Parts: sequence; structure tokens; C-alpha cells
Amino acid sequence: MQQVIAEVNRQLALSHGESRRIFHGRGHCFPGFEHLVIDWFPPVAVVRLYKEVEESWVTELSDSLKTLNAIQGLVVQRRSRGQEAQQSLAWGEVPEQMNTMELGLFYQVKPQRNQNSGLFLDMREGRRWVMHNAGGKRVLNLFSYTCAFSVAALAGGAEQVVNVDMSRGAINVGRENHRLNGLADERAKFLAYDLFRSWKRVRQYGPYDLIVIDPPSFQPGSFVAEKDYRKVIRRLNELTRTGSEVLACHNDPKNSTGFLRQLMQEECPDFRFIERLSNPDDFPEAEAEKGLKVLRYVREN
Ligand SMILES: C[S@@+](CC[C@H](N)C(=O)[O-])C[C@H]1O[C@@H](n2cnc3c(N)ncnc32)[C@H](O)[C@@H]1O
Repeated sequence: MQQVIAEVNRQLALSHGESRRIFHGRGHCFPGFEHLVIDWFPPVAVVRLYKEVEESWVTELSDSLKTLNAIQGLVVQRRSRGQEAQQSLAWGEVPEQMNTMELGLFYQVKPQRNQNSGLFLDMREGRRWVMHNAGGKRVLNLFSYTCAFSVAALAGGAEQVVNVDMSRGAINVGRENHRLNGLADERAKFLAYDLFRSWKRVRQYGPYDLIVIDPPSFQPGSFVAEKDYRKVIRRLNELTRTGSEVLACHNDPKNSTGFLRQLMQEECPDFRFIERLSNPDDFPEAEAEKGLKVLRYVREN
């Protein structure tokens, strides 16, 4: 437990009031704690447990975190395989909904919500890249969820961002995220549709200079990477022009970067692989290929 608290303290010192992962056991860099992650939405911490553990262990963790002054409320979420996530307030004050900051921008999060809180913290470097490189560009944000990439792109001076996500709830939070940052204007478009039934609508705002593809790994009935990623990549030619860039993202530890690189090579030979973006330093991975993959491509012809 001492090792966990030492890492949490180290990460808290790096947060400077912004959201961050303060313990990432799933990257296998902390033997014995592979089932534990802790997210930080100041001043609230969210413990996520990926296997069943003894109640006494949770109490020890919870009590240890209580000794850290910065943390004013703790939520514990149990996400064992095959079970619906269960969430409980361990101690302190945790609002149902709050605003959190990342790279100087605000996002709405719900720390007490089952499953995802509203902001995927592992994508911070992707959003940083977009913020620094979207100036003057027409951007397509596929699988936008709460539109964090769009907020980053518009903050970086994008000319237009089209967000597509089949979850109306996520898109509505996305609109709110734009409002929170003074970016709610005609440059941001929101399409709350199943992508696979909306190519015509998506095409109508193109061609795009930058496309972000960040789908789930496995959401049966909506998107299963092995079957559906190719269908998205196949559309890139008709949505882009020479010089356009693509960020293709994939977060399944089972598939290496080779999975995306092969699809791109087969379906989009005119796109050249440029780089894999680095993951945030609060997501240490013992095996890089198991972590989040964000690959950048440029269309050459
Ligand atoms: C991993 S999240 C995307 C994270 C997001 N890019 C971000 O930066 O926060 C995956 C999203 O894909 C959406 N989704 C899954 N299948 C879809 C489909 N067929 N069409 C549109 N959206 C879909 C889900 O609703 C979910 O919000």
C-alpha cells in the first residue's frame, strides 16, 4: 500500500490543479496492483477496481487516501469482469456533476457515474497535439463522445469541427463542454447518429484537413474493432484531400499498432505513417504495445 500512496503523492504533485490519473496499475508497472487505477478530478479521486478484492483491502486503501489533504472526496467503482460497474461514495464530498480542467480547458465530469466519468484521461497527449496542430483546419471528430477533441481543436483555432457520436447524451455533454470554454458557435457541428448510417451527412461538410478516429474497442451492435475499423478507414479517401492528416486511435491491449498499420496499408496506400504519439506520463506501460495507440498519418496523393 505504501507504494500506491507514494505514487499517488508523486502524481498529485504533478497535477497543478488539473485532472490526471494518479495511479495506473493496469500498465503492469506496479506488481500486485494490476487491478487498480485512481483518477483525479480535483479535489475528487475515483478508485476503479478491475477485479474482486477483499473489503478490508478497500478500507485500507480508502483510509490511506483520506490522509492526503488534497483529496476531499473519494468514490470507489468496482468493475470486475462480467459484472455491471458498481459505484459508491467512500467518504467526503463528491458532487454528482462538476467541471474539471485539462490543458487549461474545462470539461464536465460525473465522478459518481457508473463506467466512464466523461473525460478519457489517457487521451491528453492526443488532445494536446490537436490543440497545437488544428489551427485553420476543418476537422472531423469520429466517435466524439463528449467532444473533448473538438474543444481542444477549436481552442487551437480550428475553422470547423464536425463531431459524430451515436450517443445523444454524450453529444449533449459535448455541447456543454463547448459552452464552458466559450467555444459554442457555428464552427462546432454535432451529429448524434450511428456513423455507419451517416456517411452522406459526414461527407457533406468535407473534405477535412484532419480526421480523428477514436472508436471503442468492443461495443457489440455498434462497433467491434476487428470487424468495423476497416469500414471507417475505407472511407478516408473520400473524406480527405492531399495533405490531410489522420489520427487513428485504438485502445485494445490485444491488438498492437500492427493492427491499424495493416488496415491503413491495405485500404489507404496514399497515406504515409508519420508517428505514434506518446502517451501521457501518468499512464506508464510495461509493454508499450498494450497501451493506447494513437497513430498519425498524412495523405500524400
Ligand atoms: C472511446 S469513446 C470515444 C472517446 C472520445 N473520442 C474522446 O476523446 O473522449 C467511443 C464512443 O463511440 C461511440 N460509438 C460507438 N459506436 C458508434 C457508431 N457506430 N457510430 C457513432 N458513434 C459510435 C460511443 O457512443 C462512444 O461515445
